[in-house]
Amino acid sequence: MEKINKFRKIINKIYYLLFIENFKGKLRFNFPLNYSRIELIDYLIKKNKYSDYLEIGCDKNQLFSKVHIKSKTGVDPVSGGNVRKTSDHFFLENKKKFDIIFIDGSHIYHQVKKDILNSIDCLNDNGIILVHDCMPDSLSKQAVPRYRMQWNGDVWKAIVDLRQNKNLNIFTCEIDQGIGIIKKIKNTSVLKINKPINELKFEDYFNNYKSYLRVISLDDLKKIL
Ligand SMILES: C[S@@+](CC[C@H](N)C(=O)[O-])C[C@H]1O[C@@H](n2cnc3c(N)ncnc32)[C@H](O)[C@@H]1O
Repeated sequence: MEKINKFRKIINKIYYLLFIENFKGKLRFNFPLNYSRIELIDYLIKKNKYSDYLEIGCDKNQLFSKVHIKSKTGVDPVSGGNVRKTSDHFFLENKKKFDIIFIDGSHIYHQVKKDILNSIDCLNDNGIILVHDCMPDSLSKQAVPRYRMQWNGDVWKAIVDLRQNKNLNIFTCEIDQGIGIIKKIKNTSVLKINKPINELKFEDYFNNYKSYLRVISLDDLKKIL
């Protein structure tokens, strides 16, 4: 996990609150305590008999070491996994296809969007892409540049952006900081928004996150997958 020093945190916070946004609303999510990304990935692997897993951003292998599957690839430039590269370098050289891809590397919109689009290119038919940290509950948890330790970044903007794509069907499951669920099939509910993504603020997300992200419960997700 990236470390930022105290001085940098203070500078980033002042900059963000003065020049980007200062909004105090806080959301309350019902993330189940006993069902996380680990259980969801295990469920999908067993249900679909998946054999090839890719994780972007592995940190200390908190997740990577718990995924039980025939073949695992974990990409991280700093620690964990089994490929010491950035996601961009990995995708540039990769020729392998995957059944299930978990994206949890950079948490900044442009890079997350790039990681999703690159993942789509190496996803097997009937494969699935999962994106961690889609549901920040407060401005400070999504602020870029970052100024706190517990942080989701603005991953949610990548989901909102791609929800407008006719060929990607996307939901966000209300578990474990919000997990984006992406399938390479016709979009059954194309999102229409009246602002360019770069102009979206946390306040827009606060007021519209359910429709922006197409949020569903774990029970409902299991019914449609
Ligand atoms: C939040 S941690 C991952 C946690 C882990 N996936 C889990 O489920 O517990 C984010 C990781 O992404 C890595 N990372 C940051 N930028 C990246 C990039 N461009 N490509 C791949 N990994 C990246 C960081 O080094 C860090 O280890």
